[in-house]
Amino acid sequence: MPLFTARVLANQEVAHDYYQLDFSWISDAPRPVPGQFLTVRVGSSGVPLLRRPFAFSDAAGERASMIYWRRGDATRAIAGYQPGDAIDVMGPLGVAFPEPTDGAVPVLIAGGVGVGPILFLANALAARAPYPILLIGARSAQGLPRVRVDGRVQLRTATDDGSAGYAGTVIDLLDRTLDITAGDVELYLCGPNPMLRAGHDLAARHGIPAWVSMEQTMGCAVGACMGCAIHLTGVERYARVCTEGPVFRSTDVDWERL
Ligand SMILES: Cc1cc2nc3c(=O)[nH]c(=O)nc-3n(C[C@H](O)[C@H](O)[C@H](O)COP(=O)(O)OP(=O)(O)OC[C@H]3O[C@@H](n4cnc5c(N)ncnc54)[C@H](O)[C@@H]3O)c2cc1C
Ligand code: FES
Repeated sequence: MPLFTARVLANQEVAHDYYQLDFSWISDAPRPVPGQFLTVRVGSSGVPLLRRPFAFSDAAGERASMIYWRRGDATRAIAGYQPGDAIDVMGPLGVAFPEPTDGAVPVLIAGGVGVGPILFLANALAARAPYPILLIGARSAQGLPRVRVDGRVQLRTATDDGSAGYAGTVIDLLDRTLDITAGDVELYLCGPNPMLRAGHDLAARHGIPAWVSMEQTMGCAVGACMGCAIHLTGVERYARVCTEGPVFRSTDVDWERL
């Protein structure tokens, strides 16, 4: 598992309390792909104790990025990083989002800390038709990230307070989008668990496949501690989000036992 010291290249606020961290990526480590994540060790004193997981929001050449919400000790410390600072990273970890089925329109839905991996996927899928539809939700206009979106991606936004884009949740916007999108559709979601579940329920009602990227508190992030296990439906009863996920088929997740 590549574990190395990267260098901060840039660290900029992209929405209220959301930042994009760009950092160097060593050329002999595997190239991160959408859905995968890294862990960051913050501080040398052992506080906070656990390495923190973050999804990649981009990776190209010797550069990678993540978008993070400044919410607690670790992310407040990361928000203080300056270009040139050293950063202790491990990755890429976890499994990637699968390719959409041939001909299906990928509809990508992001809320909160789910923006990074969904954005990475949208920009990667923009190279092939049918082009992706990207739905980003936030509480208000201030929470919508100012980020690079490929021109071929059909971007739509939703805000709970109606201050920008569609007035309502991103799942309400998804419902409307599914009503007017012709042909086969495949959903990709990342965000808070209630949003993922609502997306799963909608996909089930429309009879379409959905992939969800799950967020669980992680200890080791390499499959050893079971700290990130979730309940599955069917024969396999548990899965470790860090090694068997974070991306799962939505019908495999036991939503009642999350
Ligand atoms: C696979 C995966 C991908 C993630 N991707 C992103 C991302 O792209 N951007 C982003 O902002 N956040 C992401 N997160 C969540 C991120 O790990 C937490 O925001 C971060 O750890 C908060 O740390 P803190 O010290 O600032 O906050 P704290 O105050 O310590 O915690 C705030 C919340 O963060 C979560 N958290 C805390 N420690 C961990 C941990 N060790 N593992 C997982 N979650 C934890 C818990 O929900 C907690 O309630 C991801 C989590 C996972 C599991
Ligand atoms: S965090 Fe230890 S097994 Fe996943």
